[in-house]
Amino acid sequence: MNIDELTSVARAIVTGQKGILAADESGPTIKKRFDAIKLECSEENRRRYREILFTAEGVERYLGGVILYDETLRQSTADGVPFAELLMRRNIIPGIKVDGGAKPLALHPGEKVTEGLDGLRERLQEYKQLGAKFAKWRGVIEIDAADIPSSYGIRANAHALARYAALCQEAGIVPIVEPEVLMDGAHDLARCETVSLQVLQTVFDELAAHGVALEGMLLKPNMVIAGMKSPQQADVRQVAEATMRCLTRHVPPAMPGIVFLSGGQSAEDATHHLNAMNQLGPFPWQVSFSYGRALQAPVLERWQGVEQNVAEAQKILLRRCELNSLACAGKYDS
Ligand code: 13P
Repeated sequence: MNIDELTSVARAIVTGQKGILAADESGPTIKKRFDAIKLECSEENRRRYREILFTAEGVERYLGGVILYDETLRQSTADGVPFAELLMRRNIIPGIKVDGGAKPLALHPGEKVTEGLDGLRERLQEYKQLGAKFAKWRGVIEIDAADIPSSYGIRANAHALARYAALCQEAGIVPIVEPEVLMDGAHDLARCETVSLQVLQTVFDELAAHGVALEGMLLKPNMVIAGMKSPQQADVRQVAEATMRCLTRHVPPAMPGIVFLSGGQSAEDATHHLNAMNQLGPFPWQVSFSYGRALQAPVLERWQGVEQNVAEAQKILLRRCELNSLACAGKYDS
């Protein structure tokens, strides 16, 4: 493992108020997004859509990386330029989602563990050849009744994340470690904070046990937020304070960057929260974004699959990227 190389890629993704566009929706997930705008989920429509995202003018000022899905990494622009190459030419680092999705955890009803470790070493070699310089693996932790998540459920997900991260570093690929505590459910902010603390503590324990070099990875956590069905929604400052309390307690300063997922928040909320967190800084790591829905939802809504809407949709993407970049410095002003 060449730690210097991994470190320089990890840093390049987040330095200069840059973040990540998560465009790595799996087949079923992108179908859900297209269904919402009544667009057929054909391979060509998926390709067209990703081309719109990756060719939007100016986004290279705010995006250090884009996460792709297996199919997308193998696709090209209409002119035949492979997407990974297009992004590299624009100085945006291409990455790849490598997990196989969250599946029910045996003997633990209501909990999940992410699959995809078998054959990962070989897949990483291929992804590297195709141009990916970083990868992403998402572990999913749901909060439900008092005993969910169990400490075993958390441990199982943290273990898989650490095995994945070690395999990535062995292959010379920067791992993004994503333990997502879901915001579904009716729990309050305090419960999310307790669970998120436990998750982060376990994840960093496992990363240490597996020998993962923190300098050559990025963390993609959830924000600490009340469940969507909770009657007690926290305000922006409470979310920012609880999230940063949690992260400063458990994320070592050796790690270069924290790139939040948006997890179902509105585009505006995700930007507000990121901004409020950065206003509490400085922190030992860059505090940035790796948003899927919070960057793409307004774009899809404007595009609707219609060619005449492409330019407007791209402007919306540029604007969201710019606002989140400002939020990386605590300088977003709604
Ligand atoms: P959201 O920002 O929509 O949560 O997506 C980020 C992501 O990559 C989830 O794995």
